[in-house]
Amino acid sequence: MDAVADHVVKLEAAPERTPVPPFDLVIFGASGDLALRKLFPALAQRNQEGVLPEESRILAMVRKSEDVAGLPGEISRKLAEEGLSPARIEAFLRRLSVVQVDALKPETYAGLRQELGDSERVRSFYLSTPPDLFIPICENLASAGILTPTSRVILEKPLGRDLASAREINDAVARILPESRTYRIDHYLGKETVQNLLVLRFANTLFERSWSSRDIDNVQITVAETVGLESRAGYYDKAGHLRDMVQNHVLQLLCLFAIEPPNLLEADAVRDEKVRVLKALKPIVGPDVLRATVRGQYGQGVSGGARVHGYAEELGHASNTETFVAIRCELETWRWAGVPIYLRTGKRMAQRYSEIAVTFKPVPHSIFGSAADCGRLDANRLIIRLQPNDGVQMQLMMKVPGSGKLKIVPRQLDLRYDTAFGVRSPDAYERLLTDVIRGDQTLFMRRDEVEQAWAWIDPIIAGWQEYYPQPHRYAAGSWGPSQAIGLIEREGRSWADPELME
Ligand code: BG6
Repeated sequence: MDAVADHVVKLEAAPERTPVPPFDLVIFGASGDLALRKLFPALAQRNQEGVLPEESRILAMVRKSEDVAGLPGEISRKLAEEGLSPARIEAFLRRLSVVQVDALKPETYAGLRQELGDSERVRSFYLSTPPDLFIPICENLASAGILTPTSRVILEKPLGRDLASAREINDAVARILPESRTYRIDHYLGKETVQNLLVLRFANTLFERSWSSRDIDNVQITVAETVGLESRAGYYDKAGHLRDMVQNHVLQLLCLFAIEPPNLLEADAVRDEKVRVLKALKPIVGPDVLRATVRGQYGQGVSGGARVHGYAEELGHASNTETFVAIRCELETWRWAGVPIYLRTGKRMAQRYSEIAVTFKPVPHSIFGSAADCGRLDANRLIIRLQPNDGVQMQLMMKVPGSGKLKIVPRQLDLRYDTAFGVRSPDAYERLLTDVIRGDQTLFMRRDEVEQAWAWIDPIIAGWQEYYPQPHRYAAGSWGPSQAIGLIEREGRSWADPELME
């Protein structure tokens, strides 16, 4: 191995942090979509890497008796699809017990209590359930005497459906467990590129010095998915895309993009700064929703080369739930005043990609003559790509080589994670689940963050109810309703081109 490659490998091999202590992880909603698609595969991966201590256990709570026998088979099929060998699957399933508990019936918690016994392992309870079960589950765990002084609870997003319900949940949970043992999960915070945002900003003077309205013209955050409703009609149609994606994932990205430097990479220091960003978001109230937001719902179209149904057909009835949201927002701070921030997220869009695109201000004067003479001088653009092809890309203007007429074109400085580090980026849940067991809250949302995010979202929902009850249609497989293009183009800008980073 040559010296450069050796250096790269040393950089890549991120050492495990403090060892994970022995634990019992109890998953409510264990037969649900999230548990099967994300939680079990993440745990199996960590198991395969030898990170989970030998005596640790995973307890899957299911409501129906048929799931007690059926769940291990389902998990093992899922893990096989993910490429795990039969031996690894077998090793993982040895840690698993399936217990029948009806979250709402206190008398059914006895089985769990018995299963846990008197073990002193760290107990974590993952509530991968709708938010209306959070309070009864916490209360039932407490009254069954299952919570130990170190037990922690993990609450999936969205936490509630508005500020009032979020407060109610937070108050009820706080009566049972302290904030230091309450983990509100937003898996976007566990994504590698999202964590790298802080490193990009605060380990490089280059960007930090130009990270403000002085040099930045606009910021765009896009989280586009190609999937539709999947099997989540009951939840999604009630929640809608604003609650499902913007209140949490998109606002968390905005927070990490815009925060002031915390003095340390430590849970409360980071979270204090994130709350400040949320508080600085200019409210969008009443009829302002018509100017600053776009709601959309996909109709039929073509996705991944196949014809697909529209949202209402998938659902089986008409609905005014939005599956697409675009918002133009602003932060009222010295650093950010005057910089428009465009948020855009939707289901059944043309391509699956998530990124933050930062467009810098154009040069104040071209010494090269007109665009017709030498080519247009595009503003520099920094793309922080979350998925796919996660990495960072900087668009610069370059001279086309040759001795003829001067010609200037945009070209990319490209830093893709897979090529730069040569290692797989772990799934967000792999990192976050072991963080809970280690007791590290840095990548989890504190109560005030969640509530502040709802405080900004609630008026938008109220404005929609009054002024904007019907979403615009867009064809599945497109970039959303044309109004979303209008939202940015009427300010003389355009959405960043996702092809840049292919
Ligand atoms: C979840 C949302 O939180 O995030 C889903 O509830 C969405 O609707 C998912 O599909 C997207 O996550 P990822 O990691 O695939 O971008």
